[in-house]
Amino acid sequence: MPFRPRYTGLIAKYKDRLPINDDTRLISLGEGNTPLIRLNNIPRDLGKDVDIYVKYEGLNPTGSFKDRGMTMAVTKAVDEGSKAIICASTGNTSASAAAYAARAGIKAFVLIPDGKIAMGKLAQAIMHGAEVIQIAGNFDDGMRIVKEIADHAPVTIVNSVNPYRLQGQKTAAFEIVEELERAPDYHCLPVGNAGNITAHWIGYCEYSGRGDECLTEACALCHGHCRYASAVVGNRPVMVGYQAHGANPFIRGEMVDDPDTVATAIRIGHPQSWKQAWAASKESGGWFDECSDQEILQAQLLLASREGVFCEPASATSLAGAMRDIRSGRIPEGSTVVCTLTGHGLKDPDVAIRQAGDAISTIPATLDAVKKAILDKL
Ligand code: F0G
Repeated sequence: MPFRPRYTGLIAKYKDRLPINDDTRLISLGEGNTPLIRLNNIPRDLGKDVDIYVKYEGLNPTGSFKDRGMTMAVTKAVDEGSKAIICASTGNTSASAAAYAARAGIKAFVLIPDGKIAMGKLAQAIMHGAEVIQIAGNFDDGMRIVKEIADHAPVTIVNSVNPYRLQGQKTAAFEIVEELERAPDYHCLPVGNAGNITAHWIGYCEYSGRGDECLTEACALCHGHCRYASAVVGNRPVMVGYQAHGANPFIRGEMVDDPDTVATAIRIGHPQSWKQAWAASKESGGWFDECSDQEILQAQLLLASREGVFCEPASATSLAGAMRDIRSGRIPEGSTVVCTLTGHGLKDPDVAIRQAGDAISTIPATLDAVKKAILDKL
């Protein structure tokens, strides 16, 4: 059997479609190339004839989709001579920034909201040697400060206001199209700061473009002249964004000042990619909707227990919303649906154990007791 070349990350794979030179030093941890898993049991339970795939972005090196954007942002920062990066984060961006900064040998400063970040993510930022700055405020407060700090300190912002982040993240759409040999009919995502839905739309538009014209106003980089647009496929998906009920600016149509949800990753009231995400939604004929915390946790548990796929609460928002829209027929039978699972379930063990912890009880350490425990459950 011939050997295949080693996969060395998404910049190496898609360098013709990314703002990168041949001699640029790539800062990579082998991100991307994540599995697109076809669900078996949930569609059957729904009783609907739909193909549902989950794009398991939790299998990126730091356990979230953020690595796709971070490899680009840190590669560019280092290329431009930066010695330090900074971000505000609900947790995953900080974990990713910390890891890629460690890899590059530069410093990472991460601003996190006081007490509202999942333990796994905090552990990552600390272990990778980031300077963790906890603020008495939420993500939106952190974002406001980070956007001003570049005028006061020599640091590069690696939040998704950095356009290279979205360029890296658009590659998730490429991978989906390559595997399905077409774009899905519907692409469902959880929406927080709204960078990811924007990035996916940019990716789908590039792969369906016919030359140098830009098919979307969501792309801030090409200014109407897309260097990358080319006819790989003929179709684009309808983009559907789901938010948590307590952090739902896209549903309200205005910013939310005091967002709250169990899905701490998307506890965001002032999304930075507001205009771009609206463009993606409108251009694709899509919509935004919201899910309650209870729906989110139920979808997370369902996916873990019925399909063997463990994602963090925020990620399950895409499936929770999609299931509701499939049940109601808004997403019609016969559709191919992709739900992005943005982060790994192990990021937030506390919420999982709180949810499913009753399942554990202690019994005597005897053969009889264990035998009884097994036979009772069979
Ligand atoms: N899902 C997870 C697991 C996330 O961490 C985030 C964002 C989102 C969804 C929403 O994506 O912001 O592109 O709309 N997390 C950021 C962070 C804000 O700081 O880690 P988005």
